[in-house]
Amino acid sequence: MYDMNKAMTSRASRRGVLKGGAALGIGSLGLGPIGSRLAAAQAEDALEIFSWWTSPGESKALQALFDAFTAANPGVEVVNSTVSGGAGVNAKAVLQTRLQGGQPPDSWQTHIGRELTDLYVIPGSCEPITDLYESEGWSDVMPAGLIEQASWESEQYSIPVGVHRGNGFWYNKTVMADNGIEVGDTISVDEFFAAADTLKAAGVPALAFSNNEGFQGPQTFENTLLGVAGPETYNALFLGETSWDDQGAREAAEIFARMLDYVNEDFSALAWSDAIALVIEGKAGFNSMGDWAYGEVLAKNAQENIGWVSHPGSTGSFVLVVDSFTLPVGAPHPENARNWLITLGSKEAQEAFNPLKGSIPARTDANRDLFTPYHQWSMDSFSNDALVPSAAHSQACSPAFQQAFYDATTAFVTDKDVDTYLAMLADAAAMDAEATA
Ligand code: GAL
Repeated sequence: MYDMNKAMTSRASRRGVLKGGAALGIGSLGLGPIGSRLAAAQAEDALEIFSWWTSPGESKALQALFDAFTAANPGVEVVNSTVSGGAGVNAKAVLQTRLQGGQPPDSWQTHIGRELTDLYVIPGSCEPITDLYESEGWSDVMPAGLIEQASWESEQYSIPVGVHRGNGFWYNKTVMADNGIEVGDTISVDEFFAAADTLKAAGVPALAFSNNEGFQGPQTFENTLLGVAGPETYNALFLGETSWDDQGAREAAEIFARMLDYVNEDFSALAWSDAIALVIEGKAGFNSMGDWAYGEVLAKNAQENIGWVSHPGSTGSFVLVVDSFTLPVGAPHPENARNWLITLGSKEAQEAFNPLKGSIPARTDANRDLFTPYHQWSMDSFSNDALVPSAAHSQACSPAFQQAFYDATTAFVTDKDVDTYLAMLADAAAMDAEATA
């Protein structure tokens, strides 16, 4: 298995990173509808869980976690605090406001890696849960690489509940068949463009695209970068060890720009779930998206007609997007919060949640038979392929770099100016290096 720890260590040993909200550039945001939920969450025997899981697939999967918790802890009122917006684009800002105001929920969703450490652990918002890792035996049943990314200075700070594969490339089988396109087990960049030309001639957007949340462009670019430049260069770029004038990065940006010639025109108004819906409904050919998109396919009962491969050229690599939950400093209901984490780390909860979410369990002892053929394919990829953390989901890079990556990509998807794009990424990497020096 590819050594993802090696890729993370040089970052993980760094101190002095930009602190929480400052890194996100967040000022004062109102708490909005969260305010009313706060009242319920103050109740004596409650558990307030904060996440951005609001789409049909996401909310069904979240409910499976609540059900598992309630079965073990009857009588505790679960308060579901969600803020919609894929990749947590809105939720993370609201959470910062709450943390700064001393009003944490009982647990919140975060990616392991830099998002967990830079936004929450180093600023002092999380309690270690190392004792739970010991008492629950989690270290024996989870890959060391995942635990390492959930850790800071020898303590564990979150429990991974599922492992998403970010470089999925989903397609509508009927659309392909109607246009005489055969998709095999893999798709190369050239094969994608050949299929895209055929679809374009038939008046069908080849690539369903969305960017209203700002993470989808970065995600499609990182998948393209991985496919074009390979996992070593991908890691080196996001670790700041290779500069953005790298030939592979340039080629990836050029190919990404070409792909954008085949997308639906209204992409900047659409959410990620709208883009996968275009594929499900046969209104577009492909969609590059993490496998939470498969959660939508399942929630809409569309699995018969949806196929998958790795994003063009990225076969043999697995982009890690690992969801986990924390124990806050000052949790209103610390006992319930700890019991929530115990539920999340259990085999039963991971076997109930992941089949609905599209991700695979973080535990390696889950029963494969409970999972769809897609999940089993992803499990095999996880065991055999190069594992690289996602930058679009801030697992690989600082929150400050992530924000700059979003801004640069939002400009790029309209102007397609490769030189400016690479220069903006190079500037962000330089600023990051300075901030963490
Ligand atoms: C990711 C998260 C996934 C999924 C996706 C879209 O950041 O890890 O679980 O929710 O955003 O919202």
